[in-house]
Amino acid sequence: MIQDAMTIQLDYELPEYPAFVEGIRRAPRRESHMTEADKALAIQNALRYIHPDHHEQMAKEFAQELETRGRIYGYRFRPAGKLYGKPIDEYKGNCIEGRAIQVMIDNNLDFDVALYPYELTTYGETGQVCQNWMQYRLIKKYLEALTDEQTLVVMSGHPLGLFHSHKLAPRVVITNGLMVGTFDDQEHFNRAAALGVANYGQMTAGGWMYIGPQGIVHGTFNTLLNAGRLKLGIPKDKDLAGRLFVSAGLGGMSGAQGKAAMIAGAAAIIAEVDDSRIDTRYTQGWVSHRTASLEEATQIALDHQKAGEPCAVAYNGNIVDLLEYLYEKGVHVDLMSDQTSCHVPYDGGYCPQGLTFAQRTEMLDKDPEGFRAWVDKSLHHHYEMICKFHEQGTYFFDYGNSFLKAVYDSGVKSVCKNGENDLDGFVFPSYVEDILGPQLFDFGYGPFRWCCLSRKPEDLDKTDAAAADYIRTHNRRYQDYDNYVWVRDAKKNKLVVGTQCRILYQDAMGRMNIALKFNEMVRNGEIGPVILGRDHHDTGGTDAPFRETSNIKDGSNIMADMATQCYAGNAARGMSYIALHNGGGTGIGRAINGGFGMVLDGSERVDTILRMAMPWDTMVGVARRSWARNENAMATAAEYNKQFKDTDHITLPYVADAQVVEAALRAVEA
Ligand SMILES: NC(=O)c1ccc[n+]([C@@H]2O[C@H](COP(=O)([O-])OP(=O)(O)OC[C@H]3O[C@@H](n4cnc5c(N)ncnc54)[C@H](O)[C@@H]3O)[C@@H](O)[C@H]2O)c1
Repeated sequence: MIQDAMTIQLDYELPEYPAFVEGIRRAPRRESHMTEADKALAIQNALRYIHPDHHEQMAKEFAQELETRGRIYGYRFRPAGKLYGKPIDEYKGNCIEGRAIQVMIDNNLDFDVALYPYELTTYGETGQVCQNWMQYRLIKKYLEALTDEQTLVVMSGHPLGLFHSHKLAPRVVITNGLMVGTFDDQEHFNRAAALGVANYGQMTAGGWMYIGPQGIVHGTFNTLLNAGRLKLGIPKDKDLAGRLFVSAGLGGMSGAQGKAAMIAGAAAIIAEVDDSRIDTRYTQGWVSHRTASLEEATQIALDHQKAGEPCAVAYNGNIVDLLEYLYEKGVHVDLMSDQTSCHVPYDGGYCPQGLTFAQRTEMLDKDPEGFRAWVDKSLHHHYEMICKFHEQGTYFFDYGNSFLKAVYDSGVKSVCKNGENDLDGFVFPSYVEDILGPQLFDFGYGPFRWCCLSRKPEDLDKTDAAAADYIRTHNRRYQDYDNYVWVRDAKKNKLVVGTQCRILYQDAMGRMNIALKFNEMVRNGEIGPVILGRDHHDTGGTDAPFRETSNIKDGSNIMADMATQCYAGNAARGMSYIALHNGGGTGIGRAINGGFGMVLDGSERVDTILRMAMPWDTMVGVARRSWARNENAMATAAEYNKQFKDTDHITLPYVADAQVVEAALRAVEA
């Protein structure tokens, strides 16, 4: 009997069907195109978690969910009420990692944190912790049983099982949505997800390392500030006071835009079609004003801009309407971007002009083909408007949401740099090509983060202070100073949503040394245990030609070797858990991305892992960027070779003179 052959499985008794809390956002029905045979297969698949005594009842529930939601979420298995990342001591487990990871999973599903908590979606419209609540319960049971000599394998949310390993091995190895090349597209993915065999992990959703929109505030702040320096000629010691920034999206990650713009000193208007998301950001103080009037939104922003005062006005409406209005009124916009979920424009990520948010949800359900046509039309016009602003001197940048790719996919070839296809990128460089890549990633600066597992704000204060102290005494360039200011003011800027976490851009050495300092503080009893991680959106973690690796110009931008090596190397060096995903922030087939979590328990074992793994995790990216002939990466790699001459060695490129190459080609032709 199968049930007697497993000691870890869901409880025999079915849980009570939980009540849904009013006012919590729900995911729209998901696209699937399933045949009757597919539907039967999806139900068969979901029933694998269920004791046969309950198959008749649960088959009906699953069939109903598939019909109404397009996916089987197994709502009955969701624990009742609010989930959140509790203090680590309140979790059961046989090792600290097993308990710490439960904190991170629950934080990703917190009503205050997650985009669609009932559908296990953390952010980015479709980024899920796992596929269904049966998996959630089972993963939890495994994490409670996990010892420090076992590794839990999680494939697209499904806990495959516990396998014997050793104390320096990862405790959990996660993969999400990895597909075989021929099938690696959205359509096949949607079918696989509906069948219950594929999870869209986005980045830190399925990588269990999301820390609320704070995670992206620092990156957005850096991007805006550096865009101002590079494109508007703002001196390095000044901010964006007196400048206007316009964008769209106040959702999971895009919700950071208003806050980041205000910290950078700008006046900002952010369009958002979903009023409930404006509610969240307004209540948190992440936008300063809200209105559904174009006139009022514009006036507030212009008044603040004139006075040199920061503001973030949430305009409840469509970004295309806002752009039309600003253009008509002759308003000059300094910086412009977009953060709608254009990596999944046809699945609800982009609300077309002319439809309200409610109409968009209804049309997605009733007429997905018709919806596609609306999206395409709106994207064409949206792009047209951006071009008009560009002609008047606005700096537009694609902020990694695949906006320009979506415009191209909707049929606009002129958006491509080569006028034909997307192989050479788009006419507007992405923020990584222009800003984040050369100024940060090529040096190794990226989104290092940590969470205080005690949930005590005083632990976070102490770690903030220790990190600020480290940077203050290692101030080499303006990036260090920016990061110092960021972490010095982090508490004042009230960035925490959910567990007590912090993001701080750091390079390889900064990450390692700050991590070692934190582990020492845990050892000395100054703070409780801490978990380190990072966004996948980093120097070495992600291969994504339309985003993270868009400033790789040696032709290798379409390869996924780096992210895979980064993940394998982190496994080899003993990170507590590691994740490798398909899709990330740019969509299925467009990225391979990975991340990690590392639990600091104060031990010497952890010191050893940190010394090996932290530099690797970043330097794999610097080394690859250096090999692509990126100047700042070459300088950083050369410096690393000197500093670590006894243990590490990076291959550096000889850079050929372009004229020598051209002359050689001409000689052959002749
Ligand atoms: N560059 C980065 O570092 C980075 C990081 C995270 C996410 N992203 C990308 O940014 C995008 C947004 O991520 P998210 O987590 O905020 O997703 P989200 O789906 O939670 O938020 C997007 C928001 O845009 C709103 N919206 C959609 N169409 C609109 C329109 N036409 N006008 C006004 N508002 C509109 C939606 O209502 C939603 O609230 C994703 O594509 C994601 O991959 C980029």
